[in-house]
Amino acid sequence: MTLTGDDVAKHNSAESCWVIVHGKAYDVTEFLPEHPGGMKIILKYAGKDATEEFDPIHPPDTLDKFLDQSKHLGPVDMSTVEVEVKEETDEEKARKQMIELKPSLSQCYNLLDFEAVAKRVMKKSAWAYYSSAADDEITLRENHAAFQRIWFRPKILVDVEKVDFSTTFLGTKVDMPFYVTATALGKLGHPEGEVVLTRASKKHNVIQMIPTLASCAFDEIMDATSGDQVTWLQLYVNKDREITKRIVQHAEQRGCKALFITVDAPQLGRREKDMRVKFTDEGTDVQSGQETNREQGAARAISSFIDPALSWKDIPWFQSITKMPILLKGVQRVEDVIKAIEAGVQGVVLSNHGGRQLEFSRSAVEVLAETMPVLKQLGLEDKIEIYIDGGVRRGTDIIKALCLGAKGVGIGRPFLYAMSSYGFDGVDRAMALLRDELEMNMRLIGCNSVSELSPSLLDVRSLTSHGNGVPTDVLSKDVYDRLVTPAQRVVKAKL
Ligand code: LAC
Repeated sequence: MTLTGDDVAKHNSAESCWVIVHGKAYDVTEFLPEHPGGMKIILKYAGKDATEEFDPIHPPDTLDKFLDQSKHLGPVDMSTVEVEVKEETDEEKARKQMIELKPSLSQCYNLLDFEAVAKRVMKKSAWAYYSSAADDEITLRENHAAFQRIWFRPKILVDVEKVDFSTTFLGTKVDMPFYVTATALGKLGHPEGEVVLTRASKKHNVIQMIPTLASCAFDEIMDATSGDQVTWLQLYVNKDREITKRIVQHAEQRGCKALFITVDAPQLGRREKDMRVKFTDEGTDVQSGQETNREQGAARAISSFIDPALSWKDIPWFQSITKMPILLKGVQRVEDVIKAIEAGVQGVVLSNHGGRQLEFSRSAVEVLAETMPVLKQLGLEDKIEIYIDGGVRRGTDIIKALCLGAKGVGIGRPFLYAMSSYGFDGVDRAMALLRDELEMNMRLIGCNSVSELSPSLLDVRSLTSHGNGVPTDVLSKDVYDRLVTPAQRVVKAKL
């Protein structure tokens, strides 16, 4: 039986709450208290079509996974559903204008260009979620600034007609020494979400790390891979270990080649830019969990299931449930790298989570420079693969990391910005630009292959001097959002 808009509209309260998603009605009354994004947001759409709000943050298999079949009420005749006409805000009008005026893709010459375009063309809530970081965003800026404190000691008169910057990550041959790292909620930036990154990764033969909190369903992303394309899984460990086990084993079965357990986020950091925008208009249901406070931005709304009790004691359990290599993502001191080796994991990602977690974490590249000499001294440098992420924007950043001993680097936000601004073509160009930068700079430092990259090519004397903590990185000042007070807003509006 096909339902009408009126049939659904009657169920518009907490006592009986139906919603429409993609032309089908669902009875979510009993599910209300379980909704990870809180019940308030669903009630806003009680009796109505919630598709537009639902889509960016719910993988398409969410309703099948989390809502009992008996609550799937069947198709709705959409011609009978009242369409709410929302008045376009001035902000939205201005954004659309920016989209029309945005530079052509060929005018973007580096990864920072995509960031500048993204800031102007992305929806405010999406920009706030992607770009925000902890507290004063000092670590966010330090991540990039740290690379700017490393200088080269290039070699001359080396035959560099041929340069090769391909390498292997955990046994997989990759064309460039970076991977697309895991970032949540891809559909906030682009309607197709993470699969855009999957296709670009294939084209450039690099690895994509699939996030636990992707907007696309895990299987959709795997289905978007082709041939022998390799993916890794990033894992947020659920308090309910059965859910975690299911996710890990399913990923392994589907052919994921490594498990990266996030270890720097027992609680998600306070990202004030994200909180200011208030993620109140969008529901989230990436994994089932408990009631969350939606007033605190997207990050907190989607992360209530993460287990703060995760500890070293859990590592053997992970080793018992999967044969995939295990890597710890978010290590920030050499002592923990050594512990990771002792625990028998295959690798670590030195990372501070894009500056989104502990403010005043040091940059990964600095931690790398601290780590490798110690590992060498202990004869442990070949026991583990070390990756870093955070602040990588240039081919030279990647080369510097490799010189210091990293196997490769993860790049997150820049590809999201390229995707949000120009879709697949944007990510494609961002990767192509990195390829050009890598090729040229390998030549300019006088190296033919990654095996020749070594610390002797660098001058890192100022790497560990953090100045007075004031960011010197002028480029990202342009994209930092300060608090706009009501008074300022009035003045701005008058201008
Ligand atoms: C974040 C999590 C979800 O940083 O990775 O927002």
